[in-house]
Amino acid sequence: MNDTNILDIPKIHQEINRKSEEIGFTMPSDVFIGTLLKTLISSKPKGRFLELGTGIGLSLAWMVDGMDTNSKLITVDNDPELIGIAEQYFGKDERIEIVGRDGTEWIKHHQKEKFDLIFADSWPGKYSEISEILDMVKTGGFYIIDDMTAQPNWPDGHQNNVDGLIDYLEKREDFTLTKLNWSTGLIISVRK
Ligand SMILES: C[S@@+](CC[C@H](N)C(=O)[O-])C[C@H]1O[C@@H](n2cnc3c(N)ncnc32)[C@H](O)[C@@H]1O
Repeated sequence: MNDTNILDIPKIHQEINRKSEEIGFTMPSDVFIGTLLKTLISSKPKGRFLELGTGIGLSLAWMVDGMDTNSKLITVDNDPELIGIAEQYFGKDERIEIVGRDGTEWIKHHQKEKFDLIFADSWPGKYSEISEILDMVKTGGFYIIDDMTAQPNWPDGHQNNVDGLIDYLEKREDFTLTKLNWSTGLIISVRK
């Protein structure tokens, strides 16, 4: 099987990639996490989805491609430049709410909300506010993270953060979890 033969790349993906290179964005999500997110989101018609860490909107493009017309998605990033770019690409889609705010603050103000899938791609919702964000996953809903495989550009000590997060998730008896050494190192977890 050739897992790099991905045929359903979102139309806007190439343009966002170009923009990413133009502004020198160094943290874009890869196509593997993208295609996985699209597939999982496609399993949730009329779904409610949350992304923490909009970035330049690459993973967002995949998520949006998987959504049906009755689904809603909120995406949060604290960088005004990146939020401005995401608004250019996705601002007219009424299913999408693009929020320029610190993720920790946003999570604390939306604790009662529940989602069918959360892609946590920023420090908040991953290395902080982890119990709060897991509380926001519906029964049968997904909590997805990537960047779990060691990278040469990780700052000193980051491996300890990653190990601590994996250990925490493995001990959560209310979630079923699969670790994948694929893409940048993924964890797929589902609330029981
Ligand atoms: C790995 S990148 C996200 C990449 C993005 N998913 C994509 O596909 O392009 C992490 C993002 O988290 C954002 N971020 C960092 N700290 C944050 C915070 N405290 N609250 C919200 N967003 C934050 C950064 O601005 C950055 O865009």
